[in-house]
Amino acid sequence: MSVRYGNKDHLIFHGDALTVLLEEIDSESIELIFLDPPYNIGKRFGDFYDKWLSDEDYVEWAYKWLDECIRVLKPNGTLYVMTSTQSMPYFDIYLRKKLTILSRIIWHYDSSGVQASKYFGSMYEPILHCVKDKKNYIFNSEAIKIEAKTGAKRKLIDYRKTIPTPYNTNKIPGNVWYFSRVRYRMEEYENHPSQKPESLLERIILASSNEKDLILDPFAGTFTAAAVAKRLRRNSISIESQEEYLKIGLRRILDWQEYKGEKLLPLQKSYVRKNENGQKISS
Ligand SMILES: C[S@@+](CC[C@H](N)C(=O)[O-])C[C@H]1O[C@@H](n2cnc3c(N)ncnc32)[C@H](O)[C@@H]1O
Repeated sequence: MSVRYGNKDHLIFHGDALTVLLEEIDSESIELIFLDPPYNIGKRFGDFYDKWLSDEDYVEWAYKWLDECIRVLKPNGTLYVMTSTQSMPYFDIYLRKKLTILSRIIWHYDSSGVQASKYFGSMYEPILHCVKDKKNYIFNSEAIKIEAKTGAKRKLIDYRKTIPTPYNTNKIPGNVWYFSRVRYRMEEYENHPSQKPESLLERIILASSNEKDLILDPFAGTFTAAAVAKRLRRNSISIESQEEYLKIGLRRILDWQEYKGEKLLPLQKSYVRKNENGQKISS
């Protein structure tokens, strides 16, 4: 059973993604779906442990909600899905039979903390960008243009053109995206092991939806997709199974200040630095 919160613009379901999809979401009702599920890599999300008995068990579970997402996606809709590098080949082979995969995106970031020393450490996460109809989908290329570094910065002229012209100063991004991971000191940081940066969601939402469109995030976590959707005047539906993260959504998206008698305060951060013995050295 799920519990529903929100208003006509932003809805939050506290419950299981697959159940809510099956029971609450109408067919062909969503313009953009962003899927950032558990990756089957052994992370802990509240009382949920993200490890299945086998790869096959994990993808069998995933295929069920992928099928439901395809059902609820509008005919001109777009679906982005993330998972671990190990599991993405399963998703890719499954989805290419049901949707058109337009791009295989690499979200690249700098490593932090412990680094692999006996193999090449992972510094990216894959994202599939899929549409239902390759002849009819939203792609707002003007809204996501970035600075074109090479030719334009060096003020080069393209002499291959009939009339030699300066290189463009901006361009549509390719499929390798650099965005920093969410760090403790960043304002958007919430207490969650897998929070995605607003910058990543901003590019996805600007590219693949228009104002007032409906965006669905079945594994909301810290509700990054809904927060960016709200800032960019889109509507949203989010689903999250863990109560501790639901509370982030109620505060971040619906501006709730209290839940079941508990004050919903933004994360109180401590900037106290400690030495190797755990003693305070500065603040
Ligand atoms: C990778 S995180 C999503 C992070 C999110 N994109 C963000 O930016 O914070 C996956 C989330 O799915 C939630 N989750 C796990 N199983 C679920 C299920 N069956 N239904 C709904 N949510 C689930 C976890 O609690 C976790 O918060």
